[in-house]
Amino acid sequence: MSGATLTIRRPDDWHLHLRDGAMMEGVLPCSAAHFARAIIMPNLSPPVVTAHDAASYRDRILAALPKGSEFEPLMTLYLTENTDPADVKAAADSGLVKAVKLYPAGATTNSADGVRDFDRIRGVLEVMAETRLPLCVHGEVTRPEVDIFDREAVFIDEVLDPIRRRTPGLRVVMEHITTAEAVAYATDGGGDLGATITVQHLMLDRNDMLAGGIRPHFYCLPILKRGTHRPALVKAATSGNPAFFLGTDSAPHATAAKESACGCAGCFTAPVALACLAEVFDTAAALDRLEGFASKHGASFYGLPLNDAKITLRKGDPVEFPRLVQTGDGPVTVFDPGKPVHWRVAS
Ligand code: DOR
Ligand code: ZN
Repeated sequence: MSGATLTIRRPDDWHLHLRDGAMMEGVLPCSAAHFARAIIMPNLSPPVVTAHDAASYRDRILAALPKGSEFEPLMTLYLTENTDPADVKAAADSGLVKAVKLYPAGATTNSADGVRDFDRIRGVLEVMAETRLPLCVHGEVTRPEVDIFDREAVFIDEVLDPIRRRTPGLRVVMEHITTAEAVAYATDGGGDLGATITVQHLMLDRNDMLAGGIRPHFYCLPILKRGTHRPALVKAATSGNPAFFLGTDSAPHATAAKESACGCAGCFTAPVALACLAEVFDTAAALDRLEGFASKHGASFYGLPLNDAKITLRKGDPVEFPRLVQTGDGPVTVFDPGKPVHWRVAS
């Protein structure tokens, strides 16, 4: 199969961290080179909370795009306990905002302004159910007594399912799912429930991160799980079920902040995400389903048109990807799965 090529509709990334300022300028071209659109995460410091914040962040992204790029940032709002339902409705009606992001307070990077008391966001969720604006959920409980490897499964039972039951019509994206429990929940969720899956969770498990040395560039949240979960994720991604779609969660941090006694969470996968994904689908003998997962299911869930442009991937000898991307905030280490990847984006 050496020399094979695969041409698909240009993919979208339904979960992306671009940051701001010098970091954004450094990493944005990596996503713009391969993806047509991306859902842009709002966990800046301070977060993107209002429609006004989202409009100016969007302007900064557009201004930083390489000349001629048609990459389209799809903006989100960071849900706080003080978010004004009227502002959310106006942002949705105007088309500026494509989703609202729920971070449980303390769950991950820049989540301190997230939600502690889920009763306090009921008004916003009801408006979102009416307007059909999706809620993107970082699905982990943060109670310290819950083991970090159990936080996603507990969240589904204790938070997500109750919210969905009491808010009929609410559209939810379970972001970066990592467990067989999440796959099962999303599989049975009906048309109002979707789930994104990252490249690192399709390729790695916690042994890759922790056995034989600690690999900080594999540390992300939700954390890589026990090896039994990865096949469930691969099966979901390659199943053709439109509930599952690509969200890379590419999350750049300066290398020094990752290789630290208390390292930041996030894998910077943007430059290699599609090559790695093709490897996963090829290994699963499911290359014919790659386009659905990367280029169709997410757009359908969000009610957006499919991209007409195409991208071609080519298979050959194992590829050497760049190790670092330089930014004005320092070098950022590019995700390296530690196993051969035979695919590359050709054009
Ligand atoms: O690993 C992660 N990094 N998970 C998240 O939820 C946030 C992200 C970040 O912003 O760095
Ligand atoms: Zn994220």
